[in-house]
Amino acid sequence: MHSTVVRAHEPFVSRPLPDPLKDAQGRLIAYLRLSLTDRCNFRCDYCSVSDYDDPGAVLTRLEIARLVGIFARLGVRRVRLTGGEPTLRKEVVAIAADVRATIGIEEVAITTNGHRLAELARPLRDAGVDCVNVSLDTLRPERLLAISGRGARLTDVLDGIDAAAAAGFEHVKLNTVVMGGVNDDELGELVRHAWARKASPRFIELMPFGKGVPVPTARVKRLLSEQGIALEPCDRRGWGPAHYMRGWSAAGEALHVGFIGAMTENFCDRCNRARVAADGGFQACLGGSAQVPLGALLREDAPDQAIEARIREVLARKAPRHHMEEATTGLVQLLPMMGIGG
Ligand code: 5AD
Ligand code: SF4
Repeated sequence: MHSTVVRAHEPFVSRPLPDPLKDAQGRLIAYLRLSLTDRCNFRCDYCSVSDYDDPGAVLTRLEIARLVGIFARLGVRRVRLTGGEPTLRKEVVAIAADVRATIGIEEVAITTNGHRLAELARPLRDAGVDCVNVSLDTLRPERLLAISGRGARLTDVLDGIDAAAAAGFEHVKLNTVVMGGVNDDELGELVRHAWARKASPRFIELMPFGKGVPVPTARVKRLLSEQGIALEPCDRRGWGPAHYMRGWSAAGEALHVGFIGAMTENFCDRCNRARVAADGGFQACLGGSAQVPLGALLREDAPDQAIEARIREVLARKAPRHHMEEATTGLVQLLPMMGIGG
């Protein structure tokens, strides 16, 4: 018997969609990054966040649930909650639970600066969040203050990481933006800190949203070797642009280090993602500058078909790759990092 009923966790492959979301290059869009707020209590040098949300402009919990439902019906299978700092949103746990309960969504992840994670790791896990990425650029308190501003307290972040490691997430990843002369001397320590907690460290090339000196991935690998981390190639791939290398624990267990060559490696050909800003602005590419406001359509209670049409319109114009390197020459104007959450 033919049935159109869709079960929540039916694997993607067994449920071909009549017309799944694709961009102009034919890339399937299965991964949505959703910002819950533009605000952040940190002020990282490489990022620009705002001090306040216009309360009228941020999507409500109900609008988010509806929008994720629309994306899921179009083929999105994974959602990452971002910001700003998503844990500043009071309803973050409820929103995470709504997103995870959406039919078709198979994985929910969150990216956080970790400062509220000590209290939120367990509730987020209980709400069904599968994976957590925590930003960790340094293990030295005074360096964190210099990189991320007075709101950043290393003890809170480290306690948050420990709580996440204990909460039973599928993956905990620790993201480090490598900055020449700032934290490039402690990459080995960061790897050991992550591995001791069964987390995967990931090193991200600095993108030109703020200040700082980028360190190319090839050099990060050399620095790791100099700092005592022996790695070998490995073919592990996640949902995102990271590639991985493998190391070994003293007990002979395989451990990984991720690398995101945001500037020196072109990962755009594998791009499977789209982004929604906190106000509902829909953006096809991190490096692009065009947003289509879905928030107004949601507030007007526009029909799903109208919202879907705008989503398809944006993706139909999505370029083959980002051109962020040109932002350093002033040829391309990037939207601030704040609204797009990495
Ligand atoms: N370059 C690289 N990564 C960045 N992030 C924020 N700004 C930048 C940038 N300019 C990353 C942070 C964090 C996530 C929110 O985005 O490391 O993990
Ligand atoms: Fe906040 Fe993350 Fe931006 Fe730092 S990088 S200011 S923690 S949003």
